[in-house]
Amino acid sequence: MIEIILCLVVGYFCGCISTGYFVGKFFHKDIRELGSGNAGTTNVLRNFGVIPAIITFVGDLAKAIIPILLIRHCIPVHNDWYLLSLYCGLGVVLGHNYPFYLGFKGGKGIAVTAAVVMSAANPIMIPIGLAIFVAAVALTRYVSVGSLLVAWYIPFNTVIFHYHDEKFFHMVFISLLFTMFAYYQHRQNIVRLINGNENKLWKSKSEKE
Ligand code: G3P
Repeated sequence: MIEIILCLVVGYFCGCISTGYFVGKFFHKDIRELGSGNAGTTNVLRNFGVIPAIITFVGDLAKAIIPILLIRHCIPVHNDWYLLSLYCGLGVVLGHNYPFYLGFKGGKGIAVTAAVVMSAANPIMIPIGLAIFVAAVALTRYVSVGSLLVAWYIPFNTVIFHYHDEKFFHMVFISLLFTMFAYYQHRQNIVRLINGNENKLWKSKSEKE
């Protein structure tokens, strides 16, 4: 139990490092008052361009990957490494989405979820997940569609690769929390997708004219 709490707490404080917010501050702006209001890569790209977006994405990946790898090496409960990685990742999602020092208004947790896939899931999930994400965004031009698919990768990984584990149902429950938080944070995107007015990543030729 103490390991779980430690993972959640360490994850939460790492997740609170809001890369998108600090990148925005470099431009003397609050990213949360621009575009979609999301302190994440897509909104940084929309408002500040490619390099700031890459910095945001890498920062958001690092703040999940580093604590997960550290926890895996420091906590001597090797059989539970996947479950503890999920708890740590969940803590990072909570910190990223609800940073205490920013009035609990942060991002949507997708880069962080991708980082959990990269550091804790079966390695085969990485190229498959990336291909599905890129195809979904390329076909629809909606990053949110790719993100809503990414949100299922952790439960999929758990079901496919951990069905034989003793704590399988516990793992499935924690995995589904990633999906639940992602859908909750994307609730406005989902409404816009249904209404046909979601922000597209780029405009088609006819839309530009
Ligand atoms: O990961 C965030 C993305 O799915 C949507 O971002 O800024 O368009 O709400 P945004």
